[in-house]
Amino acid sequence: MNRKYQPLMESFRFKNGIQAKNRIVHAPMTISYSKQDGTVSDELIAYYESRSHGVGIVVTGSTIITPNAKVFGGELAADRDDMIPSLQRLATAIKKRGAKAILQIFHGGRESSPELVPFSEIVSASAVAKEGLSVIPRALQEKEIVEIIRAFGDSTRRAIEAGFDGVEIHGANRFLIQQFFSPYTNRRDDRWGGNIDKRMAFPLAVVDAVIKVAAEHAKQPFLVGYRLSPEEESTPGITMADTLKLVDALAYKDLDYLHVSLMDFWSKPRRGVEDNRSRMEIIYELVKQRVPIIGVGSIRTPDEALKALQSGVPLIALGRELIIDPDWVEKVTLGKENEIRTELTLNDQEKLGIADSLWLKIINTPGWFPIANKM
Ligand SMILES: Cc1cc2nc3c(=O)[nH]c(=O)nc-3n(C[C@H](O)[C@H](O)[C@H](O)COP(=O)(O)O)c2cc1C
Repeated sequence: MNRKYQPLMESFRFKNGIQAKNRIVHAPMTISYSKQDGTVSDELIAYYESRSHGVGIVVTGSTIITPNAKVFGGELAADRDDMIPSLQRLATAIKKRGAKAILQIFHGGRESSPELVPFSEIVSASAVAKEGLSVIPRALQEKEIVEIIRAFGDSTRRAIEAGFDGVEIHGANRFLIQQFFSPYTNRRDDRWGGNIDKRMAFPLAVVDAVIKVAAEHAKQPFLVGYRLSPEEESTPGITMADTLKLVDALAYKDLDYLHVSLMDFWSKPRRGVEDNRSRMEIIYELVKQRVPIIGVGSIRTPDEALKALQSGVPLIALGRELIIDPDWVEKVTLGKENEIRTELTLNDQEKLGIADSLWLKIINTPGWFPIANKM
């Protein structure tokens, strides 16, 4: 290995003693390979096996905690105990070659698909119409909110029983937890909405419930992480100032890491703070002594990963890059970094084990994945 990449391959120890063998994390990605009932398919297991041999940690794609949480179709399920054997297959496949396995747990809220979820079951913090669509989500009642918080805890117990090393609470990408934090989608005036402290109540209650279940059920050290998206475009919407308040509150919880969901690791704040640094650097500065950060976003080459690591952020996640090159880490460790592929070609689908539904999306969404012009 080229010695300059050594820092990427150093192990990382979490405060509970769990050790990742290096600093590279497989970002959570829904790759649409689960069966209709949410159980894993052979293709999904093959995908995860092929992406788990080099990295230190694998965070799975979004996993539903209740039947009406579905957004994509083909996502994983942890909404009932029947799913435990299937989740166990997945955890075993990820851990086979030494990666730590983290199950990302989520509820889609207003983003749930009307093709997958009955209309009356599409829920959110408030009944705010979706832009350009006729879907108006139903505002959750107090009793339902408490049930959803409990469902996050129940899914955590299932992840523990299935042998995962941790769960990641998906508070990012506009899904239900973010919908409670956002002043755009949360117009409530009860204990779950109003001022920013009340908008934080649901995310923090989910964190407390998950940490409590982990403490009660895990017989070995178990990681609890939280993923968040720093800002929203809409006004009203989450500003960088709001995010820093949430990050500060999360850093006082007993979380093992925060995962900052961005498409560009180096993107700068849109509004809410007078600061010329990147969002990632600002967040890192706020919490660095308190909780480790996973950074992500358009990191393709080992030089780019190294530069991101040098910002101080201790763990670097790769998403699209690991779909394109499953052997990214091995190529770095073997000194073959020049062989790392950073583009797809149009005949890569089978070779890379990409599901039809995802492949169609990739080739029909301009700019999402880098695609070379050759067959
Ligand atoms: C196919 C695909 C599926 C994704 N699914 C999820 C998901 O289930 N949960 C999540 O938090 N982020 C998801 N993401 C976002 C990624 O985790 C990551 O934040 C984003 O792709 C930016 O990282 P990258 O530039 O390394 O790809 C997905 C991204 C892709 C490309």
